[in-house]
Amino acid sequence: LDTRLKRTYVQHYSQIRLSGSRYDEVIADELKRSLKAMLTITPEFVHNEKKGIQMSFCADKSLGQEGYIIRSGKKGITLQAYSDAGFLYGTFHLIRLIQCEYSLEHLNIRETPALDSRQLNHWDDLGTIERGYAGRSLWKWNDLPGKIDPRYTDYARANASIGINGVILNNVNADPRFLRRDYLEKIAVLAQIFRKYNIRVYLAANFGAPMKPSATPDVMRQWGGVGNLNTADPRNPEVQKWWKTKADEIYSLIPDFGGFVVKANSEGMPGPQDYGCTHADGANMLARALKPHGGIVMWRTFVYNPEIDKDRIKRSYKEFLPLDGMFDDNVILQTKNGALDFQPSEPAQPLFGSMTRTPLMAELQITQEYLGHSTYLVYLLPMWREFLDFDTHCKGAGSTIAKILTGEVIPQSYRAIAGVANTGDSHNWTGHHFAQANWFAFGRLAWNPKLETHKITSEWIKSTWNCDKQTLKVVEQMMMPTWKSFVCSHAPYSIGFTVQVKGHYLAGFEIRANKEWKIDNESIGNDRTITGSDYVSQYFEPNRSLFNDINQCPELYLLCFHRTPWNHKMKSGLTLREELIANLKQGIEQVDRNIELWKSLRGKIDERRFGEVMESLATEKKDTQAFYDSAIHFFNLYK
Ligand code: GCU
Repeated sequence: LDTRLKRTYVQHYSQIRLSGSRYDEVIADELKRSLKAMLTITPEFVHNEKKGIQMSFCADKSLGQEGYIIRSGKKGITLQAYSDAGFLYGTFHLIRLIQCEYSLEHLNIRETPALDSRQLNHWDDLGTIERGYAGRSLWKWNDLPGKIDPRYTDYARANASIGINGVILNNVNADPRFLRRDYLEKIAVLAQIFRKYNIRVYLAANFGAPMKPSATPDVMRQWGGVGNLNTADPRNPEVQKWWKTKADEIYSLIPDFGGFVVKANSEGMPGPQDYGCTHADGANMLARALKPHGGIVMWRTFVYNPEIDKDRIKRSYKEFLPLDGMFDDNVILQTKNGALDFQPSEPAQPLFGSMTRTPLMAELQITQEYLGHSTYLVYLLPMWREFLDFDTHCKGAGSTIAKILTGEVIPQSYRAIAGVANTGDSHNWTGHHFAQANWFAFGRLAWNPKLETHKITSEWIKSTWNCDKQTLKVVEQMMMPTWKSFVCSHAPYSIGFTVQVKGHYLAGFEIRANKEWKIDNESIGNDRTITGSDYVSQYFEPNRSLFNDINQCPELYLLCFHRTPWNHKMKSGLTLREELIANLKQGIEQVDRNIELWKSLRGKIDERRFGEVMESLATEKKDTQAFYDSAIHFFNLYK
């Protein structure tokens, strides 16, 4: 740290006047820890100082529940907020200023989150994590509620520092036991810790939970319900009462409980359709139980019932669009970015922009289920950017998904986003050190979907590694191309499901080649044009015509929309076959480059982490090579 900069930081941060907000205790703690670590000083908390940092409430209502203003002037730095939580987020901003070595001159920052609810979804079962690659669950259920792991607090601090304010503790394939009294008591302890950091707890609820174990359908046998009923029919008054009583019980233990996320009638999970009812009937029944307490239901749209359409990708839209406007006002539909399933690349789910009378929230996947688990260095921000910037044209040009989520295009009574977490109990939280970047980027994007990529990336690099110019340049060079190179080498042109069914990691081209992307000697890809499955018609014009035309369709999505002849001419001038084969090498080339780049940072990164990343890169290299070999072998069968 430059001595002049350090002097200014010390000058400003030595004396701090707190605001008297509900978060003062954690704010003071956070400042003490960080200033000690970064500047080796212990700040003095004063009452009437006119120098240093002054925090105070202000009357600017438009700052809302979480916004803040930071300004610098002759007398020091002021942090103002209208509500308590603004000071918490403002404090993390103040810390970031030092961490990223920003100048303190002429600060004039005004921040309010673009989305109200910014959540992590944990796919945690009782110990293990579905699609988790960073160890076991952070929640130690056997120890709770008596024994409290200090990592709960660190987890909350990390989340608060990037603006996350909601945590769904358990898997969407929900074990009903989470709703049992003994678990609720454990959950209440977590909620109490997280509350200090403005984080609310939510649960994934199993729709079949009210049933008694002997009555639960086969699909739920692994768990059994936790109630005493013979049915979970949402029209049944006993069922309604069960949920109401359960909600009352939850709120008696956790007064600020957020609500439920529900995966229903999807991949074998029970749901209202088991009783001839609709998704709206099911969601509303739960919503009414939560309503008196201010809770919400996040009902997932990830469904693909084969009776709805022959083409899987069309099903969710076809099931949910007719229900638009039929949901209670505390229901929000939680929708994955793409209509298939978190593939390495997918066109945006056309429900965004189409549902106009039901709030929609986006579900992104931070954990790298189809993107190399925690072995590969794949930076997901460019992929999320592609999604958020996608122009649906639902209300004319500029109707991007980011603007739909924030309510700028269609009024949204509830503005939210969720990311499927990539954390676990591994010592570095995410398995791969670089996977932390995806957690970080998700949080920052959730706060402000328009925040520039370079800003997010460079702030992560500076606060994770160091502020050295060379480190910044090299690490950014490593990260930025990885999503694209992964797509080219693992699932080119949006063909999906190229991995083995078990694990979703090793190459498994042959398994779904015919079902998902119809390969033969002449061509490859799905015909989803108007003369094919007509998926294109779920999009607004001009996207519909654009996607429908093989010569205009963005090449990234080519094989998702078109059955394309191998000799089709690509923009590069090469044929599809030539380009696809040539690009398969990009994965290996990227990891080779990353190994060299990382080596160039030896001495600039502490030895332990340097070595750990090196090890990950070496495994990635080996596995990418194996994937490439399978891919080449597979595609060469068709010519
Ligand atoms: C994918 C994933 C499952 C998950 C499901 C979901 O299919 O492989 O593990 O349960 O998505 O999002 O519900």
